Amino acid sequence: MDTNRLSKKMAAALNDQITEEANAAQIYLSYGAWAAGEGYNGIARFLFRHAEEERNHMMKVLEYIIKRGGAVKLAAIAAPPDNPNNIGSCFGKIYEHEVSNTKMIYVLVKKCMEEEDWATWNFLQWFVKEQTEEETFAMNLVDKVKLAGNEKSGNNAMYILDRDMDSATGEVASATDVTAVNP
Ligand code: FEO
Repeated sequence: MDTNRLSKKMAAALNDQITEEANAAQIYLSYGAWAAGEGYNGIARFLFRHAEEERNHMMKVLEYIIKRGGAVKLAAIAAPPDNPNNIGSCFGKIYEHEVSNTKMIYVLVKKCMEEEDWATWNFLQWFVKEQTEEETFAMNLVDKVKLAGNEKSGNNAMYILDRDMDSATGEVASATDVTAVNP
């Protein structure tokens, strides 16, 4: 008896998403290692924590495929991109990567609608919400470094940014934590 509840195309697309999340983890790890090499140890640890969150996303998709009776097929992870030139470009690249991941999720959601696979559509809504938060998280990183004046300030502002990010959570806040009185 066939207990697979995922179409071949859907399983392939979800497996691609596993690779995408693993790639994201690799990018955060690589940028974190670069930041540590530049002396930004607080930012490095922040990026390492976020790499773990990307691995959690990967596991979420992997477990869903198994739960639906599909086959998990892991693929090679691409080499991370070249190191950024500075913290500003590092955060800018992170933002671009998050937007590109959001686009992949949207393609998946569209596929669910075409196939009328409502279980997978429902599963992916978590990622739609998560990506909205991840984009905000990355936008905030870009803003923070702009405020600090990037490396041009050469100084105290970047030192404080690095110190503060050491204790910042690597995880995005749930949208439900935001209320009118506690924005
Ligand atoms: Fe798994 Fe940063 O998205």
